Amino acid sequence: PIDEDGFSLTHLQKATSYIKGKIPSSPRILIICGSGLGILADSLQSPIVIPYGDIPNFPESTIKGHSGQLVFGTISGINVLCMKGRFHYYEGHSLKKITSPVRIAKLLGVELLIITNAAGGVNQKYKVGDIMLIKDHINFLGFAGTHPLRGLNDDDFGDRFFPVNRSYDKNIRKIAVEIGQSLGIGPNLHEGVYAMVGGPNYESPSEVRALRTLNVDAVGMSTIPEVLVAKHCGLKVFGFSLITNECVADYDSEKQPNHEEVLAAVNSRTQQLKDFVIKVIEKCNFN
Ligand code: HPA
Repeated sequence: PIDEDGFSLTHLQKATSYIKGKIPSSPRILIICGSGLGILADSLQSPIVIPYGDIPNFPESTIKGHSGQLVFGTISGINVLCMKGRFHYYEGHSLKKITSPVRIAKLLGVELLIITNAAGGVNQKYKVGDIMLIKDHINFLGFAGTHPLRGLNDDDFGDRFFPVNRSYDKNIRKIAVEIGQSLGIGPNLHEGVYAMVGGPNYESPSEVRALRTLNVDAVGMSTIPEVLVAKHCGLKVFGFSLITNECVADYDSEKQPNHEEVLAAVNSRTQQLKDFVIKVIEKCNFN
């Protein structure tokens, strides 16, 4: 059962060896770029681009705004691997397939996962273009027993049962808040709770109201599977959402969330987000 979808150690090692053959040294950080956030990879110095399609057993993405390349490079001298294009459950991939790059990153020597996404603002105080540092999550798929680690446990990566409190590194969040302030985005920076739903539809007004009563601040269709697999194998995690639209809670509102609006919101924040991520990495003291 752990051979499912290229998730076995042998399959993952094949992908890992291929990537190792293309890069000069081990990455320490994996950045997973959310919808439209592939531009974060442009911050890497001396980039080496590896198309997903060339990597044995690697998944391939199917949607606009997700280009499908692994980019290796450095940020202030620190080796970083960037996934330009991520995978979603609604595309039809299994959760094992979606999260296999996290295990490959672990095998390559990565210690920190920086994970980003575009998300709808559930919290009424959040505005389009705001950044929410993820301090905790609600995994709706997990409530229903859908989990990337369902099946035999691979003890080489981690224990069968594992905690997920303290998943989102407190120290890095603190650094990120300080950097946000220094960049003048303090008022647009929050710490909040991210919930993952399956998608691909945006939420109904009643669903948005339900999320509010559960103290959810932002909602999206990704991220948590990768975080779970990262925590299972002992990676540190720092995650943030870019709020790309307000969730519609009014039953008769004329507004309708759409993908174009999501991408436009991302594009308006590109440069700031790049500066933000570079500074967070610099301040994390990886040297
Ligand atoms: N809901 C779910 N996922 C999303 C949204 C949203 O409103 N915006 C961007 N991703």
